[in-house]
Amino acid sequence: MAEVLIVRDEEEAGALAAEAIVNLIRSKPDAVLGLATGSTPLTTYGALARRIHDEGIDVRRVRGFALDEYVGLSAGHPESYRSVIAREVVGPLSLTPEHVRVPSGDPATIRTAGSDYEAAIDAAGGVDLQILGIGRTGHIGFNEPGSSLASLTRVKTLTESTRRDNARFFESACDVPMHCITQGIGTILRARHLMLLAFGHAKADAVAAAVEGAVSTSSPGSAIQLHPHATVIIDEAAASKLEFIAYYRHAWSNKPEWQGI
Ligand code: F6R
Repeated sequence: MAEVLIVRDEEEAGALAAEAIVNLIRSKPDAVLGLATGSTPLTTYGALARRIHDEGIDVRRVRGFALDEYVGLSAGHPESYRSVIAREVVGPLSLTPEHVRVPSGDPATIRTAGSDYEAAIDAAGGVDLQILGIGRTGHIGFNEPGSSLASLTRVKTLTESTRRDNARFFESACDVPMHCITQGIGTILRARHLMLLAFGHAKADAVAAAVEGAVSTSSPGSAIQLHPHATVIIDEAAASKLEFIAYYRHAWSNKPEWQGI
């Protein structure tokens, strides 16, 4: 099962996630990070940026692979995930821009973009630590309900619910692209450590389904139950529909110090 850590707020979650990433980079200076976009990982990137700069951590060899990208936005569109990753991750963390990849959502090359991306992840030796958010539909990456648990990077159609949720980043819901290219659930499961974060009541159902529901394509997040090292970091609101909450707290407060997360 996933290890579930229930924290006070997004800041505490970001600090915990950053600690795990710093430990990884210290032990493996060319670590490969799987990078989520959206609101959820922002405190993680913020905390990580502060640690990197305050402690002078050398991240020049760190590599990164974004989870997903919209199809059809112009290269310089401010809400393309290429732009978002450059603005919110590569810049603040001082990563080497050439070491960070985002799947290409260019319609001209979209037929081969998925297999190219898989080959690039393989060539990098796989992802060491994958940061994940979860959508209200239960999606991880942009693997909407029904996505095969064995899927690899490919084009998907976004649900209308996800398009509405992401409309906040665009002028209107109509401007949110209909299609995306996303790492598959099979791709995500190959990462060596999954770290899923979620905050707020709106995520409580998706979190409960992912952590305690049946493993099913109907709740793509439930695939984390198949992974040998999955950490779920959530606030009280996102944890509010979990059944075994007392057990998660008990396990966390009695966790052997040497174990780390
Ligand atoms: C983002 C991604 C999505 C988001 C999810 C939650 O790269 O793959 O799965 O993590 O839609 O989005 P936020 O964090 O904005 O609530």
